[in-house]
Amino acid sequence: MVRWRDQWIPGARRAVTSHVMPRFRSDLDVIARYEPGRPIEEVVREHGLDPDRIVKLASNESPEGPFPAALEAMAAAGRESNRYPDNEGHDLRVALSTHLDVDYENVWLGGGSSELLRSVALAAGGPGTSAVYAWPSFVVYRLGTLWAMAEPRQIPLDDHHAHDLAAMLGAIDDTTTVVYICSPNNPTGTVATPEAIEEFVDQVPDSVTVVIDEAYYEFVTAPGHRSMIPLALDRDNVIVTRTFSKVYSLASLRVGYAVANPATIADLRRVQAPFSVTQLGQAAAVASLGQPDVLAKRIADNTFERTRVLDALTAGGVEHAGSQANFVWFRFDGPAEDPSDAFVSHGVIVRRFGTEWIRVTIGNSEENDRFLAALDALRGQPPRSI
Ligand SMILES: Cc1ncc(COP(=O)(O)O)c(C=O)c1O
Repeated sequence: MVRWRDQWIPGARRAVTSHVMPRFRSDLDVIARYEPGRPIEEVVREHGLDPDRIVKLASNESPEGPFPAALEAMAAAGRESNRYPDNEGHDLRVALSTHLDVDYENVWLGGGSSELLRSVALAAGGPGTSAVYAWPSFVVYRLGTLWAMAEPRQIPLDDHHAHDLAAMLGAIDDTTTVVYICSPNNPTGTVATPEAIEEFVDQVPDSVTVVIDEAYYEFVTAPGHRSMIPLALDRDNVIVTRTFSKVYSLASLRVGYAVANPATIADLRRVQAPFSVTQLGQAAAVASLGQPDVLAKRIADNTFERTRVLDALTAGGVEHAGSQANFVWFRFDGPAEDPSDAFVSHGVIVRRFGTEWIRVTIGNSEENDRFLAALDALRGQPPRSI
């Protein structure tokens, strides 16, 4: 039994306890805390760099601020912040149901799509269950699985950095309750084709929930690509998640949504925190949906800059995975143990995965120039003419 033994140390201002820690789950040690992209302020502190000379391309954020209408909506909604938000998210669900051409009851909101993913993991998991997902992929699939005391089954990506759906299918057994497909995949930017996903879902048992994470859907330009939302309307075990954090530039407000069948949503909401989508977030998201031309411009800018960065990598002989998202995955055999440190010394914050591969977010044209210049310098190449 854990016993608290308080003792008074002369001269100490309060009683201190001996080193008996509160009791938490014994499996917490295996759960690494979520590590976000390093904030600019942290890099400034650690490296003594000028904050104005640092670009952050580590978290797949938009380089632009929220849409103009969203800023106005936030200012108005902010004045009501003494009230709890609308827990049903009525206005945003109405706007999304129109935008997506689905019923109001098919729309589920969350505090970022991360919260939706966590809710699925908690509802589907528990001891004796397993979850299947690709690796490397979005770390919340792994974390959610561990939070839920389920067994993670990580299936390596194929040689093209894409989901190996056949291997994922093979990893499903009687214990499996949830499978995650990330398309485009974070961190590699590769997509699973709609046909391949449909064929995959056809073969997954109906009792297994299939989450299709479309966080970067809006950035996809591959011909023939389409959303899996119709599949979620058709199948009780399919959930498609999306977010306002990326193309809509609202990462800080934490607004995500999913499309699924209403009975599934009702069950999943049992493990969801109340009021997790702020009123500011709901208002900003509704306003953003009303500016399709701003959306189109943001997508076009990303496509242009993504092509420019990919072309530069190709021309420089840098191995990369292509990309259908707002980031690029490339190989970097740098001098440092932590390859992202090498970039930080040039004032560019990127995200490393292991010691060889790096993910860089597509920024604005100046930020991308800074990244390409840092890459050239680190590879000992003469500066390019931009
Ligand atoms: C694939 C993927 N899904 C979901 C998310 C979560 O986004 P949010 O919780 O901000 O909606 C991210 C964030 O980076 C992501 O990369």
